[in-house]
Amino acid sequence: MSSPPAPRVFVVLALVLAMTAWTAHAAGDAEAGRRGFAKCASCHQVGPSARAGFGPQLNGIIGRQAGTSADYKYSAAMKNSGIVWTEERLAAFLKSPDDVVPGNKMRFFGIRSEQQVADLLAYLRKYQ
Ligand code: HEC
Repeated sequence: MSSPPAPRVFVVLALVLAMTAWTAHAAGDAEAGRRGFAKCASCHQVGPSARAGFGPQLNGIIGRQAGTSADYKYSAAMKNSGIVWTEERLAAFLKSPDDVVPGNKMRFFGIRSEQQVADLLAYLRKYQ
């Protein structure tokens, strides 16, 4: 008597689900990022009505040249940094703003957790 195929199907399914969950996790979770953006929202806005507040609006920030949002007055350090905000640069900046743009005026202590940074990037990617 051959064993029924069902259990093996379940094992495969479980594996596929686990891998999907893992991939989503590694890539960052936009919903968690939305909640995490509360840390930024006192100074930054995103979305259709976003404008400069205490900090510049962050629409389209991935790939944007640093210090170029038209309605915001940047520090000279940010304006002259020559940086283009790739995801790698953003991640480094969010972990330690002063190491990436020394003398910038974003008063933010930085985020330690890789996952929180990935989640924030997933959220910001929605406003490209
Ligand atoms: C206390 C206010 C404050 C908080 C909180 C804050 N920022 Fe900022 N941020 C600023 C200011 C001010 C600048 C402009 C810096 C300059 O001109 O030197 C800035 C600049 C930036 C820039 C560069 C923008 C550009 O146009 O080049 C990015 C990206 C950024 N912030 C992301 C974030 C994210 C994401 C968070 C939340 C994790 C955050 N910031 C939290 C005030 C803040």
